[in-house]
Amino acid sequence: MSRTLFVTTALPYANGSFHIGHIMEYIQADIWVRSMRMSGHTVHFVGADDAHGAPIMLKAESEGISPQALVARYAAERPQYLNGFHIAFDHWHSTDSSENVELSQKIYLRLKEAGFIYSKTIEQFYDPVKGMFLPDRYIKGECPHCHAKDQYGDACEACSTVYSPTELIEPYSTLTRATPVLRSSEHFFFRLSDPRCVEFLREWVAGSNPQGDKRLQPEVLAKTREWLGSGEDAEANLADWDISRDEPYFGIPIPDAPGKYFYVWLDAPVGYLASLKAYCDKTGLDFYDLIDPKSDTEQIHFIGKDIVYFHALFWPAMLHFAGLKTPDALNVHGFITVSGEKMSKSRGTGISPLRYLDIGMNPEWMRYYITAKLNAHVEDLDFNPDDFVARVNSDLVGKYVNIASRAANFITKLFDGKLAYVGDTQAMQEELAAVAEQVANDFEHREYGRAIRRIMAHADVINQAFDAAQPWVLAKGIQTADDTTRAQLQDICSRALAGFKALSVMLTPVLPMLSRRVAQELFGETRDFQWSDAAVLPTQVTPFKHLMQRVDPKQLDALFEPPAAPEITPGGEPIADTIDIKDFAKIDLRIARIVAAEAVDGSDKLLRLTLDVGEGRHRQVFSGIKASYQPSDLVDKLTVVVANLAPRKMRFGVSEGMVLAASHADDSVDPGIYVLHPWPGAQPGMRIS
Ligand code: 2FM
Ligand code: ZN
Repeated sequence: MSRTLFVTTALPYANGSFHIGHIMEYIQADIWVRSMRMSGHTVHFVGADDAHGAPIMLKAESEGISPQALVARYAAERPQYLNGFHIAFDHWHSTDSSENVELSQKIYLRLKEAGFIYSKTIEQFYDPVKGMFLPDRYIKGECPHCHAKDQYGDACEACSTVYSPTELIEPYSTLTRATPVLRSSEHFFFRLSDPRCVEFLREWVAGSNPQGDKRLQPEVLAKTREWLGSGEDAEANLADWDISRDEPYFGIPIPDAPGKYFYVWLDAPVGYLASLKAYCDKTGLDFYDLIDPKSDTEQIHFIGKDIVYFHALFWPAMLHFAGLKTPDALNVHGFITVSGEKMSKSRGTGISPLRYLDIGMNPEWMRYYITAKLNAHVEDLDFNPDDFVARVNSDLVGKYVNIASRAANFITKLFDGKLAYVGDTQAMQEELAAVAEQVANDFEHREYGRAIRRIMAHADVINQAFDAAQPWVLAKGIQTADDTTRAQLQDICSRALAGFKALSVMLTPVLPMLSRRVAQELFGETRDFQWSDAAVLPTQVTPFKHLMQRVDPKQLDALFEPPAAPEITPGGEPIADTIDIKDFAKIDLRIARIVAAEAVDGSDKLLRLTLDVGEGRHRQVFSGIKASYQPSDLVDKLTVVVANLAPRKMRFGVSEGMVLAASHADDSVDPGIYVLHPWPGAQPGMRIS
């Protein structure tokens, strides 16, 4: 039975280039799509940029361009990645599009009509300098729990406590450093806690697609069950969802609510539909037919494990109560690590997909490697350079590609490219068909690693049969050999090539370009392979051309070569000229206890400190730290003082030393002043060296 499939990958934010994690997801989905098409199914495979939200708006603003221009810049660079890795979306769109405005507003209005939307006034932090409400990630302050400084508004990185930004001590806006103020504003909410919603979701998460396969992987289902709870407590577990944001915001206006926009996560998944709609308009397909709840079209989303909550709860609920088709499967994958280390978007570590292509590495090596390591579970995938070289060189080239070069030479040289088989071929054909069927099934169920293991195991079988028959021995005396011997040699090579063709069919979803060359250049086919071609015996072969190079391990060194070091001026200024230890020893640094601290009348910078440096007397030191410290916070603390600095007469009195403190050279980067503070145990008067 032929199926119609609507397949998407997560929509990438349009304020950054693709990283290897994006490419992995797209390759996973692309392989699935190609495999399904090889079975004769119809697939609509679409993607889009996720264009809206505060970070994109603010980034554009900081560059002095419009958000649309920023989005367009990233959109323009997408094709080189997608084409480069042979990722063949049928259409690529944007959530900042007329289709998405229309669909998001329509879905919202239907939800409102069905009673799932309500509004409520909430209090939120507002940056009075910037004139906007602050998303949690733009608020920092001291953790209310462990008192670590500079923690984000939603959770502490030091002690992992989760809190709301209003609980931060001394909060500040990271945009302007202003102290945020609480302001109230009307927000719109989606009633996720509605009993109808909970009831629907409990059923949906446990459901299956028309083939009887579960919609969710077991570990994903377990997670959603935690969220959905059981029995009466469910509503308590599910918080209603705040779907609105106040202007200024780069987003879609909420109908009949001036100055209010949809939160980016409301219109992002609607972007899947917007992209499909644009594709339908272009190709003449009936969009509303495809997304009708009664439609046979299956809707399948490939996503990462970090966005399951949005896709397994909000998204199906939105669709269902707006009278649209709900997803048939969420295919959730883990993250990609590089040699066991987490990739960091912000640090830009890991493998740059463009660099990979630029240094001439074959994109199909990467497709093969990722395939070999993927399975249907939500597991992280580790990219390991040595493993990469081994799998590509030993398995892909050593086992598979080599079959062609070994067998085709004899056929083209000695038999004019004609293949012929001696005796029964049915057993071989049945075996090839059976392996191909299992591999197709593995791909359908996203057991990609298992598919590759089967393919390589069969490559071993073919190589062993070829070696055991020792065709090179027969070939030696072939000019004078009898017909039986000639036929025998031709048969050995033909069977190896029939096997090679079948393996090529099986690898088609993974290596689409290589497979096309095998089909067309080697076997003279006029179209790409289908699954049903696996057991069809080839009858001719054209002279063998080099099919695939081995990886040179040096390429991996180049791939990971650290980019040229930028000129670093730590703390905003270059390191001073070198001194020797004698110069350093001239400075007598001592531990001091701050006995008293007070503001200095007539100075907005200075504090008057009374220090105990272990001399049996107290010193007075003036220090320009007033902006960063309350005098009462300093009393009884230890610090470091330059004890042999010549006393200096100031307007307010004599200063007998200098307290050490750190600051950034450019105070627009960080206006803070940070007084040095020794580890516990140090005593006043101790020398520092
Ligand atoms: O996490 C992300 O990168 C989001 N831009 C994914 C959105 S997926 C869909 F909902 F659009
Ligand atoms: Zn903390």
